[in-house]
Amino acid sequence: MTETTILFLRACLALLAMPIYLLSFLGIWKPFSRKVFFPFFLEKLSGIHEKKTKKHKQELFHNLSDFSSPSGELKLLEIGTGYGTNFQFYPPGCKVTCTDINPNFQQGLLRSISKNQHIHYEGFLVAAGEDLYQVPSGSVDAVICTFVLCSVQNVNGTLKEALRVLRPGGAFYFLEHVAADHASWKYFWQQIFYPTWKLVFDGCCLTREIWKNLEQAKFSELSLNHISIALPWTPIQPHVMGYAVK
Ligand SMILES: C[S@@+](CC[C@H](N)C(=O)[O-])C[C@H]1O[C@@H](n2cnc3c(N)ncnc32)[C@H](O)[C@@H]1O
Repeated sequence: MTETTILFLRACLALLAMPIYLLSFLGIWKPFSRKVFFPFFLEKLSGIHEKKTKKHKQELFHNLSDFSSPSGELKLLEIGTGYGTNFQFYPPGCKVTCTDINPNFQQGLLRSISKNQHIHYEGFLVAAGEDLYQVPSGSVDAVICTFVLCSVQNVNGTLKEALRVLRPGGAFYFLEHVAADHASWKYFWQQIFYPTWKLVFDGCCLTREIWKNLEQAKFSELSLNHISIALPWTPIQPHVMGYAVK
């Protein structure tokens, strides 16, 4: 498919989403999306999304306890916690500090905490993954990041911060959607959806090759699987899942 076809279809999609582009131009969309639209959308979708990702998250987090500190304590820091859909997979007794750039998830987050009494909730920090200055260096056993690296402004900066806050031997756990094979129809549609999707869904980029950032980050060990979680009719697949050790 030619570049012209992609540009033409992008323009068609932008026309359909014209009211949102207009609100964005007027500076109204981003605050509205952060406060109302995105939290509402995530909460509505979370049931379906949780069902689809459950098996993979169980597999991803099954060895989290292996990264407990020698004293037996397990301190987790989650980047982009949203509504806390990962809590159910954390081992009993672990201490969880939540962070998110968007403070408007806190009510749903508290509901999730009350449903997951097996974890110790340590608090919520409004912080970007790229700048976790409130978290001391080498202070956590594991950093968790699921469906967030697509939206951060700087993937390498976020991985650098994760490395800083992890203690030596600690692990960075990830599950992210990534760019499809460049020869596939999926990638063709990802390119068409890219600008409008990013605007509507709070900065979510469809074509990031996040495995490359993970490979280049200064972790000592990387366990990374390329998988595809079936999320029919969405451009947010395939995925990468795994963990990297500091
Ligand atoms: C798709 S949601 C995923 C939520 C949760 N991690 C999950 O798996 O259900 C993306 C989350 O990342 C947050 N986010 C976006 N950019 C961020 C950044 N730069 N730093 C931290 N969180 C960010 C959003 O506010 C949102 O809560």
